[in-house]
Amino acid sequence: MTGVSKSLMRFSGAEWDDMKKSSDKTVFECSACGRTTPRWEGKCSQCGEWNTVEERVFVVAGRAQDALGRRVRAPRGTPGQLGHEASGPPVELSEIPADGTTHMATGIEELDRVLGGGFVAGATMLLAGDPGIGKSTLLLQAAAAIAGTGRKVLYATGEEALEQIRIRASRLGVEGDGVFMLSTGDAGEIAEQMAVLDPAVVIVDSIQTATHPDLDSPAGTVSQIRECAAFLSEQARVGRIALVLSGHVTKDGSIAGPRVLEHQVDAVLQMGGESGGTLRMLRAVKNRFGPTDEVGVFEMRGAGLTGISDPSRLFMRQRGVNSEAVAGSAVALVVEGTRSLAVEVQALATPSSLASPRRVANGVEMSRVHLITAVLAKHMRLPVSNHDLVISVTGGLDIREPAGDLAIALAIASSMTDRPVDERVVVAGEIGLAGELRPIPRPDRRVAEAARLGFETCLVPEAGESVSGDASGVAGRSVTVMRAGSIAEAVKFALRPRPSPDESGAMSETMSIAETGRAGVS
Ligand code: TYD
Ligand code: MG
Repeated sequence: MTGVSKSLMRFSGAEWDDMKKSSDKTVFECSACGRTTPRWEGKCSQCGEWNTVEERVFVVAGRAQDALGRRVRAPRGTPGQLGHEASGPPVELSEIPADGTTHMATGIEELDRVLGGGFVAGATMLLAGDPGIGKSTLLLQAAAAIAGTGRKVLYATGEEALEQIRIRASRLGVEGDGVFMLSTGDAGEIAEQMAVLDPAVVIVDSIQTATHPDLDSPAGTVSQIRECAAFLSEQARVGRIALVLSGHVTKDGSIAGPRVLEHQVDAVLQMGGESGGTLRMLRAVKNRFGPTDEVGVFEMRGAGLTGISDPSRLFMRQRGVNSEAVAGSAVALVVEGTRSLAVEVQALATPSSLASPRRVANGVEMSRVHLITAVLAKHMRLPVSNHDLVISVTGGLDIREPAGDLAIALAIASSMTDRPVDERVVVAGEIGLAGELRPIPRPDRRVAEAARLGFETCLVPEAGESVSGDASGVAGRSVTVMRAGSIAEAVKFALRPRPSPDESGAMSETMSIAETGRAGVS
């Protein structure tokens, strides 16, 4: 708690007078130690940190007013806590009415999936992503969809001219009835219109262009972002309005971007995708009202973002027709929330002349790559330590589950030995440090997905829940479930023999793999 009474005691009388004279509305607070001063300082005179002093809105007791001049409570966590109304005696948990969170479905299936059903009245959601990824497009589509259900939507933009948005709307086939546009980033003005219009949803695109009337700092600074978000969130909470903010992730990722907001908002949705590609992935980084393990998949088309309800098929289609002969590719079965997805993992290993070989991983955590390469070196005796390695997951999806390990390992082993992975096989398994395959959650769902996509064999760890392959066949298909106890067994089972010598003649290196395992039908 940054109680202002505490901070006030640190001011000398002269400082306090100075502060009252200079501005009634802002103070400067050190984000490191919490010391507040009436003037900005480059270096905090208390803790000695540089560039930590930020401007904040200061709300004096009894004086806090909203844009319409009504008295409001100071947003929590700001120095204006003297102005707080008493919150009453503690309430027993069981006495609190369980009104249940109601989600306002947008009807955009992939968005609702990630949100956990839709927008929530009174809650604030942040949609974060790189510039140009499609945030404004998605928000306009969502606004139109919500308006289509008879609710009013206020769309405030500080980024684009209204004419530009009109053009985008016509491209998207959006009529625009019930969507009220406001061309401003002024938080006070937005709050005013919120009170006048009383919409169900307010979209602020983007929070980096929003400005708080009481702050002098330019839009996009940490203090502006934080104060605007706190102010608008409070208005939304009081008015039971769903607030949606969009925000760019800056190049360096953390500082002046919307990261400062993460603890301030109820949900953070991150939009990403492969650079240059048309696929867009939407994930909840934080969600107080829904799951965080769901992924929404969209394709950016001429007429906006289209939800992909069957991403596996799309990923498999991207695999191409001649996927069978290529070494360095394996298909993983991953579970994302309520869905199981088949994704292709590609690896390219080339002899390295560097002392510490290059490791590039797209869509896979580097720590997993280090673990897997270490296991391959130790237990398969693969000379990964003198090879550069590039790993990528097609479609721009990022594999978060350890169950993706086996596909990564097989792709690497396949590229290193120039032996393709059997294209009829799909795999899921976590790799342990001893080279063993560890049990994975929900093998049944993965096997069902493998059957649906027409794979013949699903390779899973020996340990763990038993699954029956034939029961999961969709449309008369069945899949054989193979079980392997170790990475060695899995490699022996899934990698096809090396092509005939004249084809692989270019490969001078001889590689031996400890093929000691066995793979058995369960
Ligand atoms: P935009 O939503 O403006 O991105 P952001 O708000 O995240 O900065 O998306 C811009 C990109 O999307 C732009 O490169 C053009 C492309 N796009 C399409 O391909 N189809 C469309 O229908 C629209 C509206 C945009
Ligand atoms: Mg935009």
